Amino acid sequence: MAGITPNKRDSFGSKFGVIAAAAGSAVGLGNIWKFPYEVGNNGGGAFLVFYLIFVILIGIPVMTSEFIIGRNAQRNAIGSFKFIKPGKPWFLIGIMGIGAAFMIFAFYGSVAGWTLEYIFQAVKNGFAEKSPAELTDQFDTFVSHPLRPVIWQVIFIALTAGVVLAGVKNGIEKYTKILMPLLLVIILILIIRSVTLPGAGEGLKFLFKPDFSKITGSVILSALGQAFFSLSLGMGTIITYGSYINKKNNLGSTAIQVSIADTLIAILAGVAIFPAVFAFGINPSQGEGLVFVTIPNIFQQMPGGYFFTLIFFILLAVAALTSTISLLEVIVAYFSEEYKISRKKATLYSSLIILVLGVLCTLSNGGVLAEFKIFGRNIWGLLEFTSADILLPLGGLFIVIFVGFAMGSKRVKEELTSQGTFKGKLIPLLMFLVRFIAPIGIALVFLNIIGLLNFG
Ligand code: TRP
Repeated sequence: MAGITPNKRDSFGSKFGVIAAAAGSAVGLGNIWKFPYEVGNNGGGAFLVFYLIFVILIGIPVMTSEFIIGRNAQRNAIGSFKFIKPGKPWFLIGIMGIGAAFMIFAFYGSVAGWTLEYIFQAVKNGFAEKSPAELTDQFDTFVSHPLRPVIWQVIFIALTAGVVLAGVKNGIEKYTKILMPLLLVIILILIIRSVTLPGAGEGLKFLFKPDFSKITGSVILSALGQAFFSLSLGMGTIITYGSYINKKNNLGSTAIQVSIADTLIAILAGVAIFPAVFAFGINPSQGEGLVFVTIPNIFQQMPGGYFFTLIFFILLAVAALTSTISLLEVIVAYFSEEYKISRKKATLYSSLIILVLGVLCTLSNGGVLAEFKIFGRNIWGLLEFTSADILLPLGGLFIVIFVGFAMGSKRVKEELTSQGTFKGKLIPLLMFLVRFIAPIGIALVFLNIIGLLNFG
């Protein structure tokens, strides 16, 4: 829908559409690719326990805060702050968010492109008869190729732009309503295969039986960081989607439902992966290679492996797409509303910037720009560090402070209860989390990341 203006805005058509779109943003490579390897690296079940605690105590309050800001202002991630507190510097939170969206999309789009290559390889049976070492080789050769990953990345950005161009109702809502349930079905099929493998029980024990002797300060803090990134918080994604939510929707319960959906998908991804990892004697702390190197190896050793590898990477691509849609929508909503340009132009120009940044990222990952370093990091590392490690925690921190202390309790309460439609019995508890627990928690993660404090 071209030409969205703040006073006559597009909105999500149904309650399920809202939840599907926000959950589609949250569920992505963060859940299916990063969550399992974080669990693997951080000792299994105990990491999961802390992750769940942080989703409840910090994730839900931050998400509710973003929904409150967006729906109250009915504007984009920057316009919302300008509208609620005009003439004050709070809009800088939104500027940080737009900057982070460009940076995250740049490297996220690269990994998303890999999922397309792996669908392609799965189709032509390109993993058959390969040992883990050969698959590692295949992965390394692919990611450092000067052209191949770039081509897939361009295709992925174009796909994202196509959906965003179709607008909120015709694009995002329609696609995520189909894609999200499909995602769940594909994971459930994978789980059935995985848990019926001989020796699968060890994997389930690893995931669900907490060994608290494995807990250190750094494990706790990476659980908090993972919860934060996985729920798409701190960048204005949820503010922007919140601005499309119908005034009658209950924001608190929407945040809870989205958080449950996101957490469920992450756990189900773990249930799909770990039993198979243990059944085949793969190292669970393999790191970033867990999906791209180990999974094809696990699946090709099973009957029907060709098919399972294929659906796994389709699943990963779908999850990545609903996340990149939300990254681009934050940018497009901002440029089309604040500068009164059409959504078409806004989408085209921002996609081009993402493309340039993204290609530089991809080429810096073992390719021709690998040796080009700024502050000791390659381009990918620099963008990832600046966005995910600095801008997101900082943004989330300011967002809860804004809703907790600057926006005014009356306004917050009106938004939370939909002008008195809901009783809002849990508001005092929620506000306590928003004002105190969430900011302190996020501050601890942030301080840990920039190395001011070392709990490990
Ligand atoms: N949450 C998504 C994932 O888990 C990634 C993502 C999309 C994101 N939009 C975001 C992360 C905004 C932080 C902020 O893959």
